[in-house]
Parts: sequence; C-alpha cells; structure tokens
Amino acid sequence: MPQQTPPPITPDLFASLAEPLPATERLGAQAWLLRGFALPFVEALLPALAEVEQAAPFRQMLTPGGQTMSVALTNCGTLGWTSDRRGYRYEPLDPLSGRPWPALPPAFLHLAREAAAAAGFADFAPDACLVNRYLPGTRMGLHQDRDERSLAHPIVSVSLGIPAVFLFGGYTRREPARRVPLAHGDVLVWGGEDRLRFHGILPVKAAVHPLLGARRINFTLRKAG
Ligand code: SIN
Ligand code: FE2
Repeated sequence: MPQQTPPPITPDLFASLAEPLPATERLGAQAWLLRGFALPFVEALLPALAEVEQAAPFRQMLTPGGQTMSVALTNCGTLGWTSDRRGYRYEPLDPLSGRPWPALPPAFLHLAREAAAAAGFADFAPDACLVNRYLPGTRMGLHQDRDERSLAHPIVSVSLGIPAVFLFGGYTRREPARRVPLAHGDVLVWGGEDRLRFHGILPVKAAVHPLLGARRINFTLRKAG
C-alpha cells in the first residue's frame, strides 16, 4: 500500500488560519483604535519630526515627586506639556531654550483632524503636541490626561517605530486595564466619556524598526489652551 503523504503546508494555509486584525477596534463608547491610520502620513511625519527634534531636543523631565521619567519628551504647538518639581502643566516656552516650542507641523495637524473625525470628533483643533520617545526598557505608568483647560476635546495618539503594549484602564487606578498592542502607524483616539480613563505603556521590548531604529515615538495631540 502506498504511503499517504500529508498535504504540504503552504503559506496559503497559514494565511487562512491567521485571523486578520480588524482595522478599527472600539475600546470604549468614545475610544477607538485605528490600526495603520497614520501609515499614509509617515513620509510627511518623519521629516517634520526631525525638525521638531532639532529645534527642541528630547529631554527627560522630573516628576513633581522628583523622579526622572524614563521616557524622553519634547513638544510642538503653541503649548507644550512640561513637568518639574512644581508640577505638571502646559507652557508656551521650551524651558530648555526659553523660546516658543516649534510650530505644529501641517502633517501632524492634518492627521490629527482626520483621525479625530474618523472616531466621531468633528472639527478637532489641537494646539499642543507632546512627543514621547521610548527606548527599549522605558515605560509610562498609568495616568490620566487632565492638564488641559477643557476636557471636552479628544486625545489623538499616534504610534511610530517599535511596538508597545498600551494599557487602557478605567476611571480609577485600581480598575483592570486592557492590554492593547500598538504597532507603527496605529492611532488611538479617546474623548467624551472615555476622556479621563487611566492609560499607560508597559516596558517596551527591545526591537529595531526599519525606519526609526530601536525607538518608539508617540505623539499625542490635544487642545490644551
Ligand atoms: C501618553 O499617555 O502620553 C503616551 C501614550 C503612548 O505612548 O502611547
Ligand atoms: Fe497620557
């Protein structure tokens, strides 16, 4: 009797087994993950980011409690988020240079408006963009974004470079947080009743991204003033 040979395992078979990730995922009543939404903007975002970084370099700030944050940050827009012993706040001038923060690049603004609209927030007009740089091993503890003058506007958060796991929790620090893997080009938008949810980033695993190297860049657009 001839021996039965099993069917070959072809890449097609694997493709049919892998569940494709949905492009859009709802994380809350007014919170959305828009997978890959920033990809068409990357070519315009990266040179703009390099200009921002040149005018206002990444720096590690102190928390009000005196700890050095592991994530380095900079800002663009008319207001920039800063932290030191005196607290968290928005400032029109970069404390390192004494000059205004670099202007919000048009590509950032364009992406923010499109992403906000896709998540149901029309006419988003951000004036502040916090840019975070994560190297492998850095993390961001659970926190709420509540330093903005009005909480009526959404947060648009763009991920570039190496992947990370975002924690999306409840309205108290103790509520369990959902783990959301974020990849290059993913955009999160949260506002309305989800605006004050605790969120953070697990320690970033070592990896290398073809465009950004061993870095994750996150930028978060807000209407702060
Ligand atoms: C933040 O909450 O400011 C950053 C979130 C992220 O890095 O994705
Ligand atoms: Fe945040």
